[in-house]
Amino acid sequence: MATVLVASNRGPVSYKLQDDGGLDARKGGGGLASALSGISSPDNLWVCAALSEADREAVSRGVAEPGVRMLDIPPEVYADAYNGIANSVLWFLHHHLYDVPREPVFDAEFRRQWESYRAYNEAFTEALAAEAAHGAAVLVQDYHLALVPGQLRKARPDLRIAHFTHTPWASPAYLRMLPDDIREELLRGMLGADELGFHTRAWAKEFRACAEQPGLSGTHVAVHPLGVDADDLRKMAHTPEVDARLAELRAEIGPRRTIVRVDRTELSKNILRGLLAYRELLTTRPEWREKVVHLASAYPSRQDLESYRAYTQAVRDLADAINSEFGTADWQPVLVSVKDDFTRSLAAYRLADVALVNPVRDGMNLVAKEIPVVSEEGCALVLSTEAGAYEELHEDALTVNPFDVTATAEALHRALTMPPAERKDRTRRLASAATAFPPQRWFLNQLASLRDR
Ligand code: F6P
Repeated sequence: MATVLVASNRGPVSYKLQDDGGLDARKGGGGLASALSGISSPDNLWVCAALSEADREAVSRGVAEPGVRMLDIPPEVYADAYNGIANSVLWFLHHHLYDVPREPVFDAEFRRQWESYRAYNEAFTEALAAEAAHGAAVLVQDYHLALVPGQLRKARPDLRIAHFTHTPWASPAYLRMLPDDIREELLRGMLGADELGFHTRAWAKEFRACAEQPGLSGTHVAVHPLGVDADDLRKMAHTPEVDARLAELRAEIGPRRTIVRVDRTELSKNILRGLLAYRELLTTRPEWREKVVHLASAYPSRQDLESYRAYTQAVRDLADAINSEFGTADWQPVLVSVKDDFTRSLAAYRLADVALVNPVRDGMNLVAKEIPVVSEEGCALVLSTEAGAYEELHEDALTVNPFDVTATAEALHRALTMPPAERKDRTRRLASAATAFPPQRWFLNQLASLRDR
């Protein structure tokens, strides 16, 4: 029986089917995985969902990594819960992404998908209830599992339950779009926890405002900002593969300055307005033509959803349009990479003169914290006021309203012209703020705080 349990949709391992029928286990990166790897003990258990056919195959063959239990939830239930509710409803609500004249539409189909979301949460609840020792601590992650705390509280009142939201939380006006009974179920699910964690004061405040009606009684709302592990990140950024990629990029870019962004192709990341701002910079400040390159890594995400596929294509099209408008025989203004290539991203981090992080709304945004830690010459950070990282980094960043393309273009110009000494000083302070709560500390703080409840 486990004494510390973590539950999340995506787990620390995924499987790939080999040509010979064997299964290859791949360890995932990410803050949570590294937080837990440092404190792994036989008494810990990570419960996650099987995400692919290969994962399901691993579950059916009884293949498992130590300390991990993967749940084989029926694929149709999983698809409704993950794509239908978590990514198309809850994600859109928390990031304020709806195109309101057309969406959302809460109809019979939505109700059907919500049943699946409830069933998917129940599958986690059952596994946690079966695996947890008496009085164990259970740390539930994110909007996929918002109903688990309430369900688990009923099944196992002895447990100490925390829930951590990695996204923003919707404003009360936005959350009120949900049908009343569903909104109530969502909030009551969350309020089953002893402690609810958010990355920033702003998101905790939104939650409190939304939960006033059902009553917050008994649930502690806490702020635990997640940071990066400087040593880990520097080690990953200085492998021979990254060195080689860096040399290639340097040869391609030449002596020009670099504006770097790295994101999932995610609607909330505001990649299109970032490109529009770069285009405006090249238009209004022609002195930058031929002198700067925008390195954009936008690795594919949630491509099962049409809105994400269309967004990814729009990013490609706009980058192409900028390249045709301004490009010359030996200068390509935007180098965009739409693939999952962490080596290239790390090389780009090291090269960054300017980091552009302009989400329309973002739980934290670890890229804003990672780039200052590894950039070689120090980077000027252009940062959205709506990124969670704004709370910790705003003093040393150039902050922008993410909807204001002209202001973003101006901030890019200021960033590119920042004197080197100022840039170095700011980067040093940014890196120190970014590494204040590395994943292990972030995790242990939550555990300690839960034990005090
Ligand atoms: O921001 C919330 C989050 O769950 C992150 O922890 C993660 O980077 C991202 O969303 C991943 O989404 P998905 O698992 O759908 O690819």
